[in-house]
Amino acid sequence: MKNMNVLITGATSGIGEEFAKLLSQKGYNLILASRNLEKMKFLANELSSSSQRIECIEIDLSIENSAQKLYNIIQEKGLKIDILINNSGYGLFGTFANQDINKLEKMIILNSATVTSLCRFFSQDMIKNRNGYILNIASTAAFQPIPYFAAYSASKSYIVNFSKAIHYELKKFGVSVTCLCPGPTETNFFETAMAGKRFELFVGKPMMKANIVARIGINAMFRKRKIVVSGLSNKIFTKILPLIPLSIVEFVLKRYVKN
Ligand SMILES: NC(=O)c1ccc[n+]([C@@H]2O[C@H](COP(=O)([O-])OP(=O)(O)OC[C@H]3O[C@@H](n4cnc5c(N)ncnc54)[C@H](OP(=O)(O)O)[C@@H]3O)[C@@H](O)[C@H]2O)c1
Repeated sequence: MKNMNVLITGATSGIGEEFAKLLSQKGYNLILASRNLEKMKFLANELSSSSQRIECIEIDLSIENSAQKLYNIIQEKGLKIDILINNSGYGLFGTFANQDINKLEKMIILNSATVTSLCRFFSQDMIKNRNGYILNIASTAAFQPIPYFAAYSASKSYIVNFSKAIHYELKKFGVSVTCLCPGPTETNFFETAMAGKRFELFVGKPMMKANIVARIGINAMFRKRKIVVSGLSNKIFTKILPLIPLSIVEFVLKRYVKN
């Protein structure tokens, strides 16, 4: 895998960090992009071996045109991206009408717009090379509207539909697009989504480990699968939840709303 480069957004914690560890073990060069340079450098130190190149790019991908900026930085460094993993993302749980407009707009840019633009920039280069893999991270929340997770679940529904569509457009050029849909996973996700408060719905319930979810995603990506839901219970959940009336989902979730 020498001289094969992977761009991973959001590798400073959770599932993204596990993607970085797994692909580093496989010998890929890593290009990590997120806001926390210190954490990226810490991870790079932990992972680096003499044969591997690890680049850390400090960038806020929730800002308009940040995908163009990241693409330009990578071009200036003369790096060809063989694998793009669009992992950066966050959720916002709570009453939609009360949500912080700034956080809401940034979430839509990060979860949907930046992912779209990064796919656009790097897929063109991959098409020229007749080779490439793209792994987009959606969620089990993407398969139905979710009251109190309204904008987040919609941003991830977009990723599922978008990824499936470009999977078909790009495969004839040797470029594979896979969409990974994790269910509840042990990361900082819920703390961010709940603005630092506990999400009691999941307290005391087992969640999947981030390293297992990352492994499922990487395996599906290399097998060129269109979409994968992590774990059997999540697979069942994505089939059952769309059948439950939204009034019931709203009734259950509103007990956990804190704003
Ligand atoms: N955990 C779950 O239960 C779950 C379930 C379904 C889907 N997901 C999805 O899985 C992906 C990874 O999340 P996670 O669970 O691993 O959560 P996490 O531990 O909170 O990690 C989120 C990552 O996104 C990066 N990020 C956040 N805001 C960013 C910004 N403005 N610009 C660039 N990077 C940013 C963070 O890096 P910095 O802070 O350094 O910027 C961090 O590395 C997300 O897309 C999430 O929606 C998670």
